[in-house]
Amino acid sequence: MSPHHPRSPTGCPPCLTGMSPATLGPPGMSPPPRSPPWGRARRPPPHSPLAAPRPGPAGSARCRRRWRTDGATEGPRAGPGEESRRPVPGPAAPAARGCPPLASGSPVPRPPPPVPRSPSTHGQGARDTPHLGVCPFPPQVCWLAPEQTAGKQKPYMYTQGQAVLNRSFFPCFDTPSVKCTYSATVQVPEGFTAVMSATSSEKQKDNTFVFKMSQPIPSYLIALAVGDIVSADVGPRSRVWAEPCLIEAAKKEYDGVIEEFLAVGEKLFGPYVWGRYDILFMPPSFPFGGMENPCLTFVTPCLLAGDRSLADVIIHEISHSWFGNLVTNASWGEFWLNEGFTMYAQRRISTEVYGLAYTCLEAATGRALLRQHMDNTGEDHPLNKLRVVIEPGVNPDDTYNETPYEKGYCFVSYLAHLVGDQSKFDAFLQAYVNQFKFQSITADDTLGFFLEYFPELKEKGVDSIPGFEFDRWLNTPGWPPYLPDLSPGEQLMKPADELAQLWAADSLNVEAIEAVDITAWRTYQLVYFLDKVLEKSPLPEGNVERLSKMYPKISKAQNAELRLRWCQIVLKNNLEAEYSKVKDFLHSQGKQKYTLPLYRAMWGGSEVARALAMETFSATAPQLHVNVQNYVKKILGLEGAED
Ligand code: BES
Ligand code: ZN
Repeated sequence: MSPHHPRSPTGCPPCLTGMSPATLGPPGMSPPPRSPPWGRARRPPPHSPLAAPRPGPAGSARCRRRWRTDGATEGPRAGPGEESRRPVPGPAAPAARGCPPLASGSPVPRPPPPVPRSPSTHGQGARDTPHLGVCPFPPQVCWLAPEQTAGKQKPYMYTQGQAVLNRSFFPCFDTPSVKCTYSATVQVPEGFTAVMSATSSEKQKDNTFVFKMSQPIPSYLIALAVGDIVSADVGPRSRVWAEPCLIEAAKKEYDGVIEEFLAVGEKLFGPYVWGRYDILFMPPSFPFGGMENPCLTFVTPCLLAGDRSLADVIIHEISHSWFGNLVTNASWGEFWLNEGFTMYAQRRISTEVYGLAYTCLEAATGRALLRQHMDNTGEDHPLNKLRVVIEPGVNPDDTYNETPYEKGYCFVSYLAHLVGDQSKFDAFLQAYVNQFKFQSITADDTLGFFLEYFPELKEKGVDSIPGFEFDRWLNTPGWPPYLPDLSPGEQLMKPADELAQLWAADSLNVEAIEAVDITAWRTYQLVYFLDKVLEKSPLPEGNVERLSKMYPKISKAQNAELRLRWCQIVLKNNLEAEYSKVKDFLHSQGKQKYTLPLYRAMWGGSEVARALAMETFSATAPQLHVNVQNYVKKILGLEGAED
């Protein structure tokens, strides 16, 4: 694959070509000299594949990375003054402000924080985002001890770059407005394998892996994982990577399906430029459903549901191959350009593969998440705008919420609605990708291109229709002024709506309930049903116990999306008999979108629920990703009032 070094529209030439290879971090890769808030979870354990060399035979196992970024190009403009202006802390940054470690095993709840925080966002401080504070960014090279892996035999390390965390991994322009190619040389001890988000990788002698990414990408998409991992082919250009104990399940889940997703994506949005599309199943504490590292998506092992029911996450990450990875938001304040377009692309692919009814059902569950988020934060919350001002020093991750995803999806759907013809809008999306590929852009570029592409719409002034002004979409918080029609999903939603209604009644109509056969319902139909039950909760006394007994398929589910909803229902209904399920679920995985809602629900519940939260966090904190730990600490009032 030949390297591509586009000039930025501003004419800035590639300026780092020929930069000499830099050794990243001290030889032997000792970790940054800061004290991790949760000790062993952050520091490479002595037996880590990337721990500092030690004298004696064991010390000969060393890891070195040689690093090179080249061909940096700058996007049209940096975003509205945020992450790019933040001083890069580098490996010797000052230690993070001290967080009192939990007394291990202590079930005693502490008093709630003095200032109630927004339940769906993670911090509080700066002008447009006054609830967000300035605080040191956590280190983002994650070092896991053997017990933190699925196999529990060997240590593991991985990086998570998005949003601005790769600055603690290697020196870089850590803003999505700059793109460059890279190459890396990684040496690991015997018995370990290194993988990266690269277009080529080669294993050389002495356990040395050489990687090259020949397409220009922003810093946040550079990713590395090292562990006891193996791979299995699942398609002509795809394989799954996982720990040996998960590889069979991983192959079974996705064998033969990835290619179809890629092929439909290419048909809709143009060539797939990244060569391979591989998937790495991460250890259970991985904080996201998926992360779109080019050529190698990282995913949570929760996707291994056994029935392919959670493939929408894979389709989402594949969609980033065009939206996000090829056309990139120039600033994290316009994250919706990545995620809103990706949600739209995901649902276009899903419509082609699974049909409109199923896709509308899935979109309805997304809308429910947006509703929950806006209810929790208040519609007028400044983060409920598509364009967010992120002040210098504010960690963009702290602005993360459902708005860029689901309100962004509504805005893109609104643009499609203005065009009025799906195939014309598909053609526009393809032209958009072609126009801005390998660049970083702002919403003004996107909307300007839309109006140029459809001059008749520009003529009609569609950007200023009262109530639907493009400016309002971008800059006004609140519920989307336009919602796409999800009624094609009605055939799947209606039975679930009706059943939830029956369960919410004061006196149960058992006959009517027993007449509904849910055995053939698909996962998302059950998810939709459970969301409705949750909305109506607490149910009248005794109903949830009966529901639990009647549907073991739900209350004993292994599927993570069902487990999340069931745990939420258990907590909202104070069903103490099933609190152990909440605990078990939180012990089994550390995905942020599962973990935080459950801690919020526990902390907002009874004394018993609060004690459960404390006990569970005491036991699981060291397993959790540091961001997730910090957000949970905020929910539980364990973070000082400093931010
Ligand atoms: N790029 C995101 C994950 C992310 C966002 C990491 C912000 C760090 C900061 C990824 O593509 C994503 O959106 N994942 C979702 C998938 C879902 C929407 C299908 C997730 O993890 O839940
Ligand atoms: Zn995404």
